[in-house]
Amino acid sequence: MQKKIVVLTGAGVSAESGIQTFRDAGGLWEGHNIEDVASPEGWAKNQAMVLDFYNERRKKIINSEPNKAHTSLAKLEQSYDVEIITQNIDDLHERAGSTKVTHLHGEILKARSTIDESLIYENRGDITLGDTCEKGSQLRPHIVWFGEMVPMLEGAIEITKKADILVIIGTSMVVYPAASLIQYIQQGTSIYFIDPNRPKVSHDYNVTYIDKNAVEGMDVLLQKLSIEVY
Ligand code: OAD
Repeated sequence: MQKKIVVLTGAGVSAESGIQTFRDAGGLWEGHNIEDVASPEGWAKNQAMVLDFYNERRKKIINSEPNKAHTSLAKLEQSYDVEIITQNIDDLHERAGSTKVTHLHGEILKARSTIDESLIYENRGDITLGDTCEKGSQLRPHIVWFGEMVPMLEGAIEITKKADILVIIGTSMVVYPAASLIQYIQQGTSIYFIDPNRPKVSHDYNVTYIDKNAVEGMDVLLQKLSIEVY
């Protein structure tokens, strides 16, 4: 049976595709107030502004391409059972060819109803005030905001429990519950963390740090796993 690699990704894996991270210098949260654009309270206060924020992000993502870190992760499926759990709302893992991707924080290329969470629609265009679901309520981006439930969490926990190897890429590990997933690994699971800034992880875990950007770091990881660098 193939070994299972579970990969937790954050904004850093898409940085080399030209998509801004959140908390680095020049990151998205430097120019925007989190509460204004990523919380139910912000939405209640100014829906047009929130829609604009995500309309811009959607355009940026549609015009970006997967980078070599994304494609290396996709090719890893030739040797391992790979499951990706991403905090990213972009579709770059899927476009690179990864087949098992869980989006913990939602997907920018989907819209959803504000009165019925189960009404979710594929959506590549702008969402504007007055765009409604089939029940007549305003559409919003299919994004998990701060203070909201994380519906994909239970599934992500189950996936993490089965990891033989956990790879973490490009996340500051400050947003919960995503950062808590590491707690669910079995004893003996190897952990590799690719990030140029070595985010803090409890000393309880035996982590092999690869202090590099995602693209270069993935090459190092493949070498460590004795896989030919693509
Ligand atoms: P952050 O912006 O908090 O962290 C980005 C991480 O990527 C940092 O640790 C950087 O060192 C690292 N990084 C930067 N460039 C990199 C590169 N080229 N290669 C590899 N790593 C690089 O982003 P996240 O941890 O993903 O949620 O943020 C988590 C959540 O906070 C996001 O999903 C978003 C945000 O608020 C919501 O909006 C709900």
